[in-house]
Amino acid sequence: MAGHGTPIPMTSRPCGPLIGTANVPGDKSISHRSLILGALCVGETRITGLLEGEDVLDTARAMRAFGATVTDHGGAEWSVQGVGVGGFAEPDQVIDCGNSGTGVRLIMGAMATSPITATFTGDASLNGRPMGRVTDPLTLFGAQAVGRAGGRLPMTIVGAADPVPVRYTVPVPSAQVKSAVLLAGLNAPGQTVVIEKEATRDHTERMLQGFGATLTVEETDEGRVITLTGQPDLQPQTIIVPRDPSSAAFPVCAALIVPGSDVLVPNIGLNPTRAGLFTTLQEMGADLTYENLREEGGEPVADLRARYSPDLNGIAVPPARAASMIDEYPVLSVVAAFATGVTDMQGVKELRVKESDRIDAMAKGLRAAGVTVDEGPDWWRVTGLGHGNVPGGVTVASQLDHRIAMAFLVMGMAAQKPMRVDDGGPIATSFPVFEPLMAGLGAQIEREET
Ligand code: S3P
Repeated sequence: MAGHGTPIPMTSRPCGPLIGTANVPGDKSISHRSLILGALCVGETRITGLLEGEDVLDTARAMRAFGATVTDHGGAEWSVQGVGVGGFAEPDQVIDCGNSGTGVRLIMGAMATSPITATFTGDASLNGRPMGRVTDPLTLFGAQAVGRAGGRLPMTIVGAADPVPVRYTVPVPSAQVKSAVLLAGLNAPGQTVVIEKEATRDHTERMLQGFGATLTVEETDEGRVITLTGQPDLQPQTIIVPRDPSSAAFPVCAALIVPGSDVLVPNIGLNPTRAGLFTTLQEMGADLTYENLREEGGEPVADLRARYSPDLNGIAVPPARAASMIDEYPVLSVVAAFATGVTDMQGVKELRVKESDRIDAMAKGLRAAGVTVDEGPDWWRVTGLGHGNVPGGVTVASQLDHRIAMAFLVMGMAAQKPMRVDDGGPIATSFPVFEPLMAGLGAQIEREET
């Protein structure tokens, strides 16, 4: 439950070369889905490599509240004894999803077609985020939602007793909305159809198929048409969670901007719906290579090797790539500050409704640190200063956003002066081992215990 604690200021100082291997933790998106889908099967799902970040631990607690038995066996090995599709019990307490938009939105979807009522809340960041994008389609199934003004948490969902299947075109590029509708469709009779105009991360589709649901995907003129047959008997699975490309982004980007660095980040999933940052960095001239490229569980996986890249150039990031790197723009904007020329990021309105308004949070911190940033409602531009020329030397607000905190700590490793974030506590939501992992490579990050 991030954001409930005392702020933990952290300072990152300019450091020598980052050298070594960075074993980043399990993928956050897949970890949430493993617990939720495990809870929707009868029988035991085994999960290896679960991300033990606060977001995912909140989802584990929530699945217990809905009746599943979730067990931590140690060493990132977990099991879930599920209750089956339509088997959720009514929780007797408010469900606190902490900082996690993915957790709350997917769980709302998973319970919305069962005859139970649940109330959801979160930290100050989550309670400020829009939930109407999820409750709009859930009401089409027959569920009811009552929340605060603007469709904000805390919010109560009254699940549909007699759900009807839905055909829904997702109005914003959001894997969370798509997934909420598909999870709701599991307990509706007949076929639920979700159409997305822009492809977003497809873990829910792949994992539903893996758990035995009948789900098809067609590319049409309308977009990606996903058809799910409701009321399946999902089959428990053994899941090995791949390492998170969104966490890999931090050591990779740090290595590119700290002189002399050479970092290996093994076993990173390169699902095309997630790997946009790495393509972008290569286009900017990064010395970033894929070693040992292979397939695991039907997905491309590689060891990423990132070396200091003195000749980075700003580029126009294609808007069509935005969904595949949506969580990586904060750290990309830091790399852009060390590049030569302008990095132009268009079609990124969704950044304004993440754990923070990420364009605003990064623009404020980058400007304070001496970097020029221009912005509009759905675009922003960073004018790079080139290596060695980024002043730094300021404290920035992380705004309860783990990726803002980590991005500025990465910046501090290569700026002229240290960067301090007012609260690094939220890093524990997605990357609890960030500090020791970066220290192991040679970074100098200090936390001020208050
Ligand atoms: C996620 C989807 C994305 C992403 C988030 C994880 C998911 O959010 O930003 O970190 O696991 O489905 P949106 O669906 O809001 O784009």
